[in-house]
Order: sequence, then C-alpha cells, then structure tokens
Amino acid sequence: MYYLEPKKDHRTQSTRENIEVSSAGLLQDIVQHYDDCYSTYSYWCNEDNLAYHYGYWDSIEPYDHHQSLFNMNAYLYEKAGIKPTDKVLDAGCGIGGSSIWMAKNHHNKVTGITLSAKQVEHAQKNAQRHHVSDLTHFEVADFCATPFADESFDIVWALESSCYALDKSAFLKEAYRLLCKGGRLVIGDAFMLQRELNEQQWQAVVAFYNGWAVPNLCMRDEFNQYLIDLKFQNIQIRNINEQIRPSAKYIYKVTKRFFFWGKLAKCLGACPRMSTLASHIKAPEKI
Ligand SMILES: C[S@@+](CC[C@H](N)C(=O)[O-])C[C@H]1O[C@@H](n2cnc3c(N)ncnc32)[C@H](O)[C@@H]1O
Repeated sequence: MYYLEPKKDHRTQSTRENIEVSSAGLLQDIVQHYDDCYSTYSYWCNEDNLAYHYGYWDSIEPYDHHQSLFNMNAYLYEKAGIKPTDKVLDAGCGIGGSSIWMAKNHHNKVTGITLSAKQVEHAQKNAQRHHVSDLTHFEVADFCATPFADESFDIVWALESSCYALDKSAFLKEAYRLLCKGGRLVIGDAFMLQRELNEQQWQAVVAFYNGWAVPNLCMRDEFNQYLIDLKFQNIQIRNINEQIRPSAKYIYKVTKRFFFWGKLAKCLGACPRMSTLASHIKAPEKI
C-alpha cells in the first residue's frame, strides 16, 4: 500500500529536460511543461476556445469536442452566478481561453494570471484577435502570492489550475484576500477520493503528477475543510465526472494516436514533448 501524504510534492521525476524535481523547482517545471507543450495543445483546443481544460458534456448530442470546451466555461459561469459587471481574476489563465470567453460573451473585465510569460504573450495576442483587449489584462503572477490589493475582484475563477498549488490552502487564502465582500470563488478541478493506493494506482497517479508537473491532488474533503476554515460560505461541491468523461476518453484517444510517433520523434531528438504528454495521459485512464 502507498499513502499520499497531504501538501507533499509527489513528483518523482520531471519529464521536462534538465529540470530537477524539487519543491523549489516546481514553478519552473510548470512553466516548462506549458511552454514545451504549446504546440501539442493545438491538437486539443482551437483558435476560438483556446481551452486548456476538459469539456463539459451534459448530452452526447449535439455537442462536439470544441463545443464541450466552451460549455465548461458556460457551466461554471452560470453556477457561480457571475454577472457582466463582475471583475474577474482568471487564476491560472493558460493562453486566455476562459478570460476571452467571458469578455467576449458577457463583457466582463478579466485579469488573467499565469506563471508563464509565453502564455501571457499568447493570451494578449489572442485577446487582440478576438477584439477584447480593452476588457482583458494578462500578466505573470503566482496565484498563491499575487501583487493585487485586498478585495480587488468580485470573482476568482480557477479552472484546472488550483491543482498546481503545492499547498491548496495557500491558494484559497490568497483567493479569499482578493475577493471583495459577496465575492465568489469558482473552481473546476480534479480531486482525490482516497489516500491509500495499491501499486498499480500509485504508478498511475505518480505518472500523472510527473507528466503534468502537478505536485499532488487534494482530497476533496480536505479541500472543503480548508474552505470552511477560511470562512468561505455557501460552499457547493458538484461531482461532474460523468460530464467530463467523454473528454477524458477523447484525450486518451488523441494522445494514443501520437504515442508511437512521439516516442520515435523523441528518440530522434525532434519533438520530445509529444511523447511526454502522451505517456502520462495514458496512465490515469487505467485507474
Ligand atoms: C491546465 S492549465 C488551465 C488554463 C486555463 N484555466 C484553461 O482552462 O484554459 C493550468 C494553468 O495554471 C497555471 N498555473 C499553475 N500554477 C500557477 C500558479 N502558481 N500561479 C499562476 N498560474 C499557475 C499554468 O501556468 C496554466 O496556465
């Protein structure tokens, strides 16, 4: 039996080149992962949704993959009761997908932060292309220690990003500080439901952590407790496993297709990132 200790960096190796695994190197590993995988993500999102997240499927038809990525934004927006006048912090904004979607569809003012300067550049260009530069602002910042004043935002939005915090409560504490009275935090992310893992589960989970540069996933109940301890109110948790399952299957299918060619390319020193992504995406499917 293996035991996943809380707040610990469980990566055993970096699949990025020349990056050592240490908690001190975690942020660098995350940046490297996203910068290296930029072109690989073009097999996942398109120029409209720019989404580095799973889709939300509440019916098989009429959605397609790209529509499901938009649907995830729409789902969270609606669940959090966001209004067009709300100022939003997109914490871990990727290349700007959700920020641009909110600005374009609802005219929200959105600040997007990410660790990667390259992602900021992409997000700015994408916002320009979508004619929402006036409503969006992107910058490099750590969502656990941002440069913004207390109560700067009505909404903190974290879609598949809070999992990157070594200590999830540090992220939540910062989010609480940034929210004005009546503000809301909306998170779409992956959580663990058990700490004890058998050999096969452990291998799969560590492969996932290594590949995505994620230090750990939080237990859902612990996350809930952090929210309570920080005095968040009206906490609502929804399990959307079923709604994201088609995306999980899709990502597996896509990366499997590239697995062989990625491995070959890596051997030839041509495109090491493709197989990196494929090899660790493969594992969680087996759990
Ligand atoms: C899976 S991507 C999700 C991007 C975006 N939310 C989306 O749905 O398209 C994770 C993002 O979190 C960002 N991130 C990870 N750790 C972060 C941190 N400590 N501070 C700010 N951003 C972070 C990464 O740089 C990346 O942009």
